[in-house]
Amino acid sequence: MGSMDLMQKPHAVCIPFPAQGHINPMFKLAKILHSRGFYITFVNTEFNHRRLLKVLGSDTLNRHPSFKFETIPDGLPPPENFDVTQDIPSLCKSTSETCLEPLKKLLSKLNDTTTMPPVSCIVSDGAMSFTLDAADELGIPEVLFWTTSACGFLAYVHYNTLMEKGLFPLKDSADLTNGYLDTIVDCIPSMKDIRLKDMPSFVRSTDPDEFMFKFALQETIRAKKASAIILNTFEELEHDVLKELSSIYPHVYSIGPLHILENNMVNNDLQLLGSSLWKEETECLEWFDSKESNSVVYVNFGSIAVMTPQQLVEFSWGLANSNQTFLWVIRPDLVSGDSPMLPPEFLVATKDRGLLTSWCPQEKVLNHPSIGGFLTHSGWNSTLESISSGVPMICWPFFAEQQTNCWFSCNQWGIAMEIDSDVDRKQVEKLVRLLMVEKKGEDMRQMARAWKKKTESMSSLLNIDNLINQVLLPS
Ligand code: UDX
Repeated sequence: MGSMDLMQKPHAVCIPFPAQGHINPMFKLAKILHSRGFYITFVNTEFNHRRLLKVLGSDTLNRHPSFKFETIPDGLPPPENFDVTQDIPSLCKSTSETCLEPLKKLLSKLNDTTTMPPVSCIVSDGAMSFTLDAADELGIPEVLFWTTSACGFLAYVHYNTLMEKGLFPLKDSADLTNGYLDTIVDCIPSMKDIRLKDMPSFVRSTDPDEFMFKFALQETIRAKKASAIILNTFEELEHDVLKELSSIYPHVYSIGPLHILENNMVNNDLQLLGSSLWKEETECLEWFDSKESNSVVYVNFGSIAVMTPQQLVEFSWGLANSNQTFLWVIRPDLVSGDSPMLPPEFLVATKDRGLLTSWCPQEKVLNHPSIGGFLTHSGWNSTLESISSGVPMICWPFFAEQQTNCWFSCNQWGIAMEIDSDVDRKQVEKLVRLLMVEKKGEDMRQMARAWKKKTESMSSLLNIDNLINQVLLPS
């Protein structure tokens, strides 16, 4: 393509929140927009860019003439260990307080360069609403991408209602354990029967100024200033919730599952460029080839969840006693305190049917025919990837809107069972067996396959076109 053509492209600056579960969907969206003719600047924090370079190698990034990477600092002191997820509340605080100025500087640098088209729109994470001020200053449209489920986003929107109803803050810390969290919220039309404990976890506080509660609420309010809100979900899955959201925010587009759309829409060398911040261990894929279909449990708690050493022990004995074959991904920072220590007797007992690894190519894993179930923390990407692979789940939600994803997976979509947060080995064993060898598991598998079929619908594809034509392209 000649430089003239390049200069005429619309230029989208894509800014993910700096954590793996947010970078992945933003990266897929950026590739899709690129395939639709956009020039892309993808803005990572310096910390994550360094991690990405380590995984991908420096010549892989910035090789493409119309897809470039830039960085801004995250405002946090440099950590001792570069291979761990940064603390999320600290990131929310520092990005919202310190990133606007570096972003504005970066945007004017981009606009002063003669080798790329002027910035014509911003696509930013919903938890980075400070970016709206930069778009405003340039007089260009900005789309906020909430990378949570639509139900998770709507639950945050209703934090306000919880305050009005006196459900937040909790009156007493005893309310965390005395059954009070089972209270039916009863104020969200599209979430009938949802309990306080199924709302995003930051409600579990007696502090009226709980930072993450206030932060999430503030971001949902600021989101009203965006040109549009986009969500990585699809009409058929979250119809009622999306409808309710559309009555609150005028321009809501559901454009997921992005990993499916990416596979269909991106046909150039960018297709192979990943966004994993850890190196993917791929030997499990060969190991699966020797296993029967639906015979392996896949265990993974995403990039942020941290458990206690005792919880790790309970999960390990539950898996061992279930007698099922499993792949268990244990991040180096999965356990609080020291590095994860599995009981030696567990390793001996499961050596012929358990594979342990530190980070895997999850989409490929979930799509392998040998995978029959997923023990997950209910992160939204994991949930959506599981749905679009037709794999039923056991949910152990850790924090944020994972509780809400879990409730929908179990109660609305019929594809999951929940494990108590206070996990014990007996329950793990029982649920894993239910999932893998009992009729209940097979029923959920059928249901998951029915949802998988629905991901082939055209609604999100149409919504992406509408988003581009109605919002992102200069009028
Ligand atoms: C977080 C929150 O959990 C989630 O609820 C929120 O909506 C986004 O941010 P995270 O906890 O990391 O993300 O979970 P998840 O949303 O499931 O994202 C993890 C991503 O990393 C997925 O895309 C998954 O495919 C990928 N992954 C995870 C791997 O590629 N390999 C692994 O071994 C583990």
